[in-house]
This record gives sequence, C-alpha cells and structure tokens, in this order.
Amino acid sequence: MVEPKKSKVKPISTGALKELAPNMLVERVMELSEPDLQDLCEATEKSIVAGGGFGWLVPPSRGGLENYWRGVMLVPERSLFIGRVDGVVAGSTQLVRPTRNNEVRSRAATLTMNFVAPWARGHGLARALAVAVEEAAADENFQVLNLDVRETQEAAIAFFEGRGFERWGVHPRYAMVDGEWIAGFHYFKDLNKV
Ligand SMILES: CC(C)(COP(=O)(O)OP(=O)(O)OC[C@H]1O[C@@H](n2cnc3c(N)ncnc32)[C@H](O)[C@@H]1OP(=O)(O)O)[C@@H](O)C(=O)NCCC(=O)NCCS
Repeated sequence: MVEPKKSKVKPISTGALKELAPNMLVERVMELSEPDLQDLCEATEKSIVAGGGFGWLVPPSRGGLENYWRGVMLVPERSLFIGRVDGVVAGSTQLVRPTRNNEVRSRAATLTMNFVAPWARGHGLARALAVAVEEAAADENFQVLNLDVRETQEAAIAFFEGRGFERWGVHPRYAMVDGEWIAGFHYFKDLNKV
C-alpha cells in the first residue's frame, strides 16, 4: 500500500509546546497533505456548527472548505499553523503579514482564524497555537500583532485578553448575524513585551 503523502511542516520550538500533553502538537504548515486537509475541514465544520467565530455562519460545502484551505496555502502573506491531537488536525491559526505596498504598516501583522474543534478544547491547544504565531511574528521583526473578534465570542475574548491583547476599539457594525448588527472588538499586542 502506498503511504499517503505527509504535510510539509516546519517544527516549532517554543516553551508553549512543553506544556502540551504528549499526544498534542503545533506545527507551521508549508504544504498540506490530503489527510490533513480533510481533518482541517472536519475541525472547521465542527467549530462553525458550535458557533464559529471566524466568519462562516453555516458550514460551506466540503469542496468550498477544501478550496478555502488550499487558497490559504497559496497566499504569500499568510502562514498556517495547525494543532494536532493524536495526529489529527484539531485546530488552526493564521499569521497574516501586510502586503508589500503597505510600508507604513510593515511592523504590524495580524492573527486570524484562530479556532480549536469543540472536542479538543480546554487542553491548551489554542494557547500553543497563539504562542507559535506570536513568536513567528516577533522572529520576523513585527512589533505589533492585531486581531478582531465578534463581541459574542466570549471564549475567544477571555482567551485573547488573558494573553495580553489590549482592546483599543469597538466597531458597532462589525458583523451581521441573522439580520442584526453585532459589534466587534479590536485588539493589539505589543510583541516587544512577549
Ligand atoms: C477560543 C478558543 C480558540 C480556545 O481554545 P482552547 O483550545 O479551548 O483554549 P486553551 O485550552 O488553549 O485555553 C487557553 C486559555 O484560554 C482560556 N479559555 C479558553 N476558553 C475559555 C472560556 N470559554 N472562558 C474563559 N477562558 C477560556 C483558558 O482558561 C486558558 O487560560 P490560561 O492560558 O490562563 O490557562 C476556542 O474556544 C474556539 O475555537 N472558539 C471558537 C472560535 C473563535 O471564537 N475564534 C476567535 C475568532 S479568531
């Protein structure tokens, strides 16, 4: 039998990994294998059904999700970090750099699409993912990490505020859910303090 092609990953060396259980791992993905793509789609679907927080209100078709994740791998400004439990992809986060023309913002990156499938929550996977993104951004000389989140994402708000992200603004018409405007909270973290 032919072994399925593995994802090409960059191992992460961070103190946060030491706190993870031995069956858990966070990696930076350079190339996504088919089995990992399917696990990632599955984790995304389960997280959207559980309340999402990263854009979708209902899960798109599997083909649509596959296209989304394949697209992420093609965008030079984006880096994908995945979290595994027993080898299965259970969550992810992205580091997004400013486009080259945006010289005035060249020291600020964005953390986005941070989620962990409901079955894997509460074991430190999101923390390890966030630490990996913060450290990668600092290694690339970014001094600030930005993010935004719907005001209704209570777990994410507690999580990011616990990680030292400072809320600097509230956007009253940030997202529309079921025909109602939902506010969004905007945060930044000074990476010089990481
Ligand atoms: C927010 C989320 C990523 C946390 O994932 P997780 O793997 O359970 O988080 P961890 O186990 O790594 O917890 C990390 C920290 O966050 C805190 N935290 C996590 N969920 C929390 C909750 N529901 N309420 C309060 N604190 C919470 C933990 O107590 C922990 O604190 P510590 O570092 O001081 O010990 C997860 O709940 C999720 O995917 N939510 C939906 C997606 C979302 O809203 N994403 C934000 C938009 S980008």
